[in-house]
Amino acid sequence: MATSTRFQPVLDEIAAAMQPLLGQAGTVASYIPALARVDARQFGIALRTCDGEEAAAGDADTPFSIQSVSKLFTLTLAMQAVGDALWERIGREPSGNPFNSLVQLENEQGKPRNPFINAGAIAVADRLVSHARAEGGSAKARILALMASLAGEPVGFDEEVARSEAETGFRNVALANFMKSFGKLDNDVAEVLDTYFHQCALRMSCRQLARAAGYLCRDGAHPIDGEAAITSERQTRRINALMLTCGTYDAAGDVAFSIGLPCKSGVGGGIVAVVPDRLTLSVWSPALDATGNSLLGMKALEMFVARTGLSVF
Ligand code: DON
Repeated sequence: MATSTRFQPVLDEIAAAMQPLLGQAGTVASYIPALARVDARQFGIALRTCDGEEAAAGDADTPFSIQSVSKLFTLTLAMQAVGDALWERIGREPSGNPFNSLVQLENEQGKPRNPFINAGAIAVADRLVSHARAEGGSAKARILALMASLAGEPVGFDEEVARSEAETGFRNVALANFMKSFGKLDNDVAEVLDTYFHQCALRMSCRQLARAAGYLCRDGAHPIDGEAAITSERQTRRINALMLTCGTYDAAGDVAFSIGLPCKSGVGGGIVAVVPDRLTLSVWSPALDATGNSLLGMKALEMFVARTGLSVF
């Protein structure tokens, strides 16, 4: 792996600027007990260019719970598995609501607004369970295999986090049962949720995430071997469009305004951002703002765009 001489100093500068802010504002997600114990005073940033150069700073190699960032990768798997049929069950509109809102789902007869809110990701997990079963495999094994291939090294689930979510994820249980009651889930609610809780409990570092998301800045080509297509060009454009409009929930408008990059965030404090045709970037800092996005992660992305001028606008 070659270090990017252009971007390494930028990431060093951003990590240094974040140091005095660590632990000063925001709160670590506490509704999942295993996440409440994470030290908020951590910050990592990493990127990988389309040419395979990398740069990293701060806690870029510390693994964390990627949470909703995983929705990006399960959406990718579902697009590979069922293609456009996916959109019969899931919309493509921003929700303008918190990621775990129940109200909209009731009003819209169990069809989630988009694949990145919790209900949408649970519907995606349902498709993955069906598809894996039809081929004699398991959705969880397929998720791990995709992540290991994209990151170029083994990736695992944090079983303690998965268990913690299973014990306290009452809203997700409600969302899944709602969808089941509307006939919008094909599989057993418990099995679909087990898949969903495990994908959220994937443990990865910023460096691994920046690598893994690499296909999103390369028209779908595998980030490491560059040959195999992970997604078609059309699918890649669509994933990026969904990230921009829905990837940070009800902060998506603000993020497009102040950062202008397709992003996907998670309540573990991770964010993946894409600069199409240039690079993928991952930041992590566990303290969150009121919308559930990493406070310093967003600050760091703003700083990156200001320093480099890289934005889709
Ligand atoms: O289901 C949940 O609530 C969590 N496992 C994931 C939520 C999440 O990361 C939303 N992102 N900002």
